[in-house]
This record gives sequence, C-alpha cells and structure tokens, in this order.
Amino acid sequence: MSKVLETTQILEDYLVMSYEELHERIELAREELGKRIVILGHHYQRDDVIRHADLTGDSYQLSVMASQTEAEYIVFCGVHFMAESADILGKDSQRVILPDLGAGCSMADMATIDQVEDAWEQLREIGVLKSKVAPITYMNSSAAIKAFCGRNEGVVCTSSNAVPLFDIYLKEFDKMFFFPDQHLGRNTGAKFGIPLDKMALWNPHEELGGNTEEELHEAKLILWRGHCSVHGRFKPWHVDKIRADIPGVQVLVHPECTREVVEMSDLNGSTSFIIKTVENAPSGSKWAIGTEVNLVNRLQQRFPDKEVLLLAPDLCMCATMYRIAPQNLAWAMENLLDGTVVNEIVVEAETKHFAGIALERMINLTEAKKN
Ligand code: 13P
Ligand code: SF4
Repeated sequence: MSKVLETTQILEDYLVMSYEELHERIELAREELGKRIVILGHHYQRDDVIRHADLTGDSYQLSVMASQTEAEYIVFCGVHFMAESADILGKDSQRVILPDLGAGCSMADMATIDQVEDAWEQLREIGVLKSKVAPITYMNSSAAIKAFCGRNEGVVCTSSNAVPLFDIYLKEFDKMFFFPDQHLGRNTGAKFGIPLDKMALWNPHEELGGNTEEELHEAKLILWRGHCSVHGRFKPWHVDKIRADIPGVQVLVHPECTREVVEMSDLNGSTSFIIKTVENAPSGSKWAIGTEVNLVNRLQQRFPDKEVLLLAPDLCMCATMYRIAPQNLAWAMENLLDGTVVNEIVVEAETKHFAGIALERMINLTEAKKN
C-alpha cells in the first residue's frame, strides 16, 4: 500500500468513515506495526472483521495461539472471556486488546464467582465434598471462575476437548461440578453413559441449587444452570422440518445446543469440528448447521458445490461477538500506532496465577491425549 492515512484516535470519528476507508486504515496500521501485533479472530466474527485476522480458530485453538505468539500486542476479535484467557496465557510483556469492551458472553455472565463459591460451600456443608469433586469450567466463564477451578484441582475445557477431559476427570474423581453451560455438560456426560437422573441441575438462585441433599450425593455430574441463548434457538422441530424439506440432509450442531437437538443430530462438535466436517464432505452433500450464522454463511460461500444451510430459519447471531466491528478495530490499531493501548484486558495477578494453572492443565492434558 502506498498512501499513509493521517491517524485519528477518537472513536466517534471512525463511526462516520466508509467501510472502504476503515479497511484501508486497518491494513495500513497492521503493515506499520508489523510483527508487533497479531490479530486473532474467533470463527463467529463477522466477515468484515475476520478478513483482517492473522489467525482464526475456535476458543481452544485461540488460547493456544495466544500462549505461543511473540507479538507485543494481541488484538482479540472475540469476546471478553477469550481475551482474558489470552492475557492469562500470554507473556507478562504482552498486552491484550478487546476492540469493544461490550463484547461479552451472556452464558459466561450466568455464573458469578460469588455464586460458585457459595454453591461449593453448600456442597461442603452437606458433606458432598467428602467425596472427590472436580470443578470444571467451560472456557466461557470469567477468569475468577477459572481461578477457582485452578485452586481446587479442576480444569477448564472447551467444546473441542470436553470429551477427553471428561474422560480423565471421570476416572480420577467421584463427581464433577460443571459451570456454566448445562448443555455442553449434559451432552458430554451423556457420551460417557451418565444417565440423566445422575445429573443434577444447579440453580444458583435456590437453596442447594434446587436439589435435595440426596440428589446431590447421588449425582455423578452437577450442572450449572447456564445456557447460550444463540444455540438455544435451535429446536427439535427445526431438525424434523429440515429433514422433511431436504431429503438426505445431515444435521451438524454445536454441543451448546440442547440435549434433544444434539440427540436428533447426525454429528456435533466445536466450531472447528463443524468447519472441518464440511470441508471434508463430498461435493453435493447437504448440511443443516446449528451454530452461529456468520460461520454458516462463510461455509456457504466457501463451498458452493455443497448445500449448506442454517438449521433454523431465523437469525442465530451472537450479538456480542458482532460488537467487534471494523470501526473499533481501526480505532484500537491506530491508537497503537501512536503508542496508546485502548481497551486493554488485564486480569488481576492472583486470579491470573490460579486461572493460568487451570488453563495450562487444560492445554497439557489435551495435547497429551492427542499424542
Ligand atoms: P468454540 O469452543 O467451538 O469456539 O465455541 C465457543 C463459543 O462461544 C460457542 O458459542
Ligand atoms: Fe457466548 Fe453463545 Fe456468543 Fe458463544 S455464541 S460467545 S456462548 S453468547
């Protein structure tokens, strides 16, 4: 690129720029920052952001990338819990930027550290912790909850490694307490043959999570009552309808979908599993996909020789992911050109230490299982 645009650092100025100008500015800033910056993008990001990402991946892959990059600045085009994990796993000298601080995750917000600690104390009071209980948190949770798991022999998991990690923890512990996605927990527990009556659901707004002492003593898996509102939109009738409308269609869903939907599907797995499955599918195959719409749209564009559809007809978009827009990306990057770090994500030192234990345990166990 030849021209160097004059930088401007007030976010409002970027809101009125054309998309063409924003993209030009982002690329010029990237060129100037060179190896000092890496832009990571989650598979759910919108097209006009993902086109600028140096590396894309699911939440597990992005955490590994964050732990390996040498770049001084990690610009995270994802949601808050992913940027926190990048700060925890990155080097002390690296700075993590989330271009819009409003990019959160409603599921992660369904469990607070106070609620989790209170639940753990209640389990202690009724004697459940006399057996070996592992606290396991989905990546979609606050750094404080990851730290809680790190302190209590637990681990973090993602949708791509929940199965191997459950395999390890179910052998080594009597029970697991899984936060905050009941559906990933239930779907993964079911893969190990745990019957539904051995899975207790913990409602943080009720005493003993709404269970009897006996139910909690009997449970193999205690599931936090959290869910993803995006994946919750896929219903069993969508599966029935698409099968009736498109003979031969294969239903492929993310394990954040409900148990009923996952049971009715042909395949389920993380965002990168979904991408790989469609990539490797034969030309002419038909796929109805139950996950975020930006990912599905990109698969449609990449594989015109395959029929790729969103499982539900209505828009299943992660509105918080969508908050990361070219406007904030250009703003964050041009500030970096001027030496100003905006929207930095910094996890407090002690939380970082213990959350790091749980995250590194996840990476080490996952990589060891692969070999
Ligand atoms: P992945 O682990 O598949 O990237 O999913 C993260 C997520 O937030 C899905 O809603
Ligand atoms: Fe959170 Fe659901 Fe968005 Fe994933 S899709 S980031 S779980 S709100």
